[in-house]
Amino acid sequence: MNNFINISDLSSKELRFIIEEAKSRKSNRKNFNKSAPDKDKPFEGKSMAMIFEKPSTRTRMSFDIAVKQLGGSTITLNPDGIHYGKGDETLKDTAKVLTEYVDIVMLRTSSHKHLEEFGKYLEIPIINGLSDESHPCQIMSDILTFEETKGLINNQTVSWLGDGNNNMSNSLIQAAGKFGFHLKIGSPKKYMPNKKILNWAKKNNVNLTITKKPEDAVSHSDCVMTDKWVSMNDKVNKKQKKKDLKNYQVDKKLMKLAKPDAIFMHCLPVGRGEEVTNEVIDGKQSVVWRQALNRVHAQKSIINWCLD
Ligand code: CP
Ligand code: NVA
Repeated sequence: MNNFINISDLSSKELRFIIEEAKSRKSNRKNFNKSAPDKDKPFEGKSMAMIFEKPSTRTRMSFDIAVKQLGGSTITLNPDGIHYGKGDETLKDTAKVLTEYVDIVMLRTSSHKHLEEFGKYLEIPIINGLSDESHPCQIMSDILTFEETKGLINNQTVSWLGDGNNNMSNSLIQAAGKFGFHLKIGSPKKYMPNKKILNWAKKNNVNLTITKKPEDAVSHSDCVMTDKWVSMNDKVNKKQKKKDLKNYQVDKKLMKLAKPDAIFMHCLPVGRGEEVTNEVIDGKQSVVWRQALNRVHAQKSIINWCLD
């Protein structure tokens, strides 16, 4: 049994295994209905509890479909409708009860500590469906999407623009170390990666370039990525942050500085006209809808790996 909390917790070999399994399961499903189960139904008779402390469209839908395709079922819990969210039951007791009912838990949380605490008391695996610190499932889907278009990601260059100190950029830095790609982050000083993740990057020899200049961040890049300037529960002066990040908008002019066949990625939801222009996100280089679809495929093999 394994938990899937951070990309940094897994070895490069385990992460590669997950990506390759996702590719092969996806290719074995050609012409299947969207929710039809895979032939081997590895999750048959099993179920996943999904807890959302924050809103979600993709994570909610893609985990539900992933579990259906594996032959199992899901139960979605809203913290307002269960005891732990209201504070009249400890997280430990909720974890003990969930262990009796289901086979795996997926948690989207405002506090990364909840994942660690749940993980400590559950006797079944837990998957991080986004926390304030990381978003590993999204990044695994992004690696899958990148490789479907551009081949193995090792030694290729990925650029990250805008907020360099959020859950997505943290997981992307960890992925750069584990998958061995060059990551270039373009953000103003105020929003550069924090010390904790920079120390991890240094210790793990991540090929990481950080610059204030958006043009340098995207030059010769194979993939340009960005994210909402203001994340869910981001306790900042939103107006000020958007002003600070104005020059990091991904537009056609900036995309032209990347390689001609570079792709554009965004985890969604998107702030259209803020971190990216409509022309780019709706343009030919954008693979954002496939990223969303690939959440299903990446998460199926994450679930299988957790239950191994
Ligand atoms: N990308 C992503 O996690 O989307 P949701 O917030 O809709 O789940
Ligand atoms: N950084 C974003 C990602 C959303 C999927 C957020 O946390 O809101």
